Amino acid sequence: MKKIALVTGGVGGIGTGISRALAKEGFFVVANYVVPGSETRWQEAMAAEGYDHTHCMPAFGDVSDFAAAGQMVSAIEATHGSVSVLVNCAGITRDASLRKMAPEQWHAVINTNLNSVFNVTRHVLDGMCEQGFGRIISISSINATKGAFGQTNYAAAKSGILGFTKALALEVIKKGVTVNAVSPGFIDTDMTRAMREDVRNEIVASIPAGRMGYPDDIANAVVFLASEASSYITGTNLSVNGGVHLYQ
Ligand code: CAA
Repeated sequence: MKKIALVTGGVGGIGTGISRALAKEGFFVVANYVVPGSETRWQEAMAAEGYDHTHCMPAFGDVSDFAAAGQMVSAIEATHGSVSVLVNCAGITRDASLRKMAPEQWHAVINTNLNSVFNVTRHVLDGMCEQGFGRIISISSINATKGAFGQTNYAAAKSGILGFTKALALEVIKKGVTVNAVSPGFIDTDMTRAMREDVRNEIVASIPAGRMGYPDDIANAVVFLASEASSYITGTNLSVNGGVHLYQ
């Protein structure tokens, strides 16, 4: 039977790349989404690679809400069995300097980017421990450790993921469950395309690799951490950023 991989925010730019890569590795991929209709583009992208409902499915659910996340996980597990790989990829930006930041912008980012990691992990962890295998991979960011003007909310959430990763890694390694983070740099997706053009151009000029990353650059790292081959790696943060962290 295929192992189940759940990717929160799985229909987004990086999420779609991760979904495709995990399906290619033989996982049954469940891509979570919250905006009705946003799963269509993902379904088309998966179908284009030959992946139909026997390989993957979208799953609606607001992962910023604990109960909703639980309902989604229960529905998936009732039909397909325990989740073996969880990729916490749901993320948004609400950039503003702190002096201009509204409480809604703070809470939206903390809820979606950080609280979702607790909300979903809490619901899949027992199943992973019982089956003696699990991979929890959370998508953090270069801006967790580097900071970015206008991203106090985002940097706080993404740094929170790094602390969560280390603490949980200690709790479950003896159960065959590893917990790691992947920190993308600047990846060519709708999120980075939404940045002001001058800010974006300045960032691209500063990347040692000379280009933005592709979603597949992140997906390849996730596939490795999801594999049996990575069983001795836990509590780590894998930087995938074309060398940007070297300037930190
Ligand atoms: N760096 C330095 N100074 C900046 C600045 C920046 N990025 N942005 C604004 N400032 C300056 C302004 O020029 C202004 O200076 P003066 O008072 O001397 O005129 C001062 O700071 C006050 O700034 P404001 O609060 O008025 O800022 P703003 O409203 O003009 O811009 C912002 C705020 C839109 C958030 C802008 O700073 C910005 O676009 N920042 C980048 C955010 C960013 O990095 N987003 C990444 C998105 S991609 C992602 O998040 C994925 C990932 O994981 C990497």
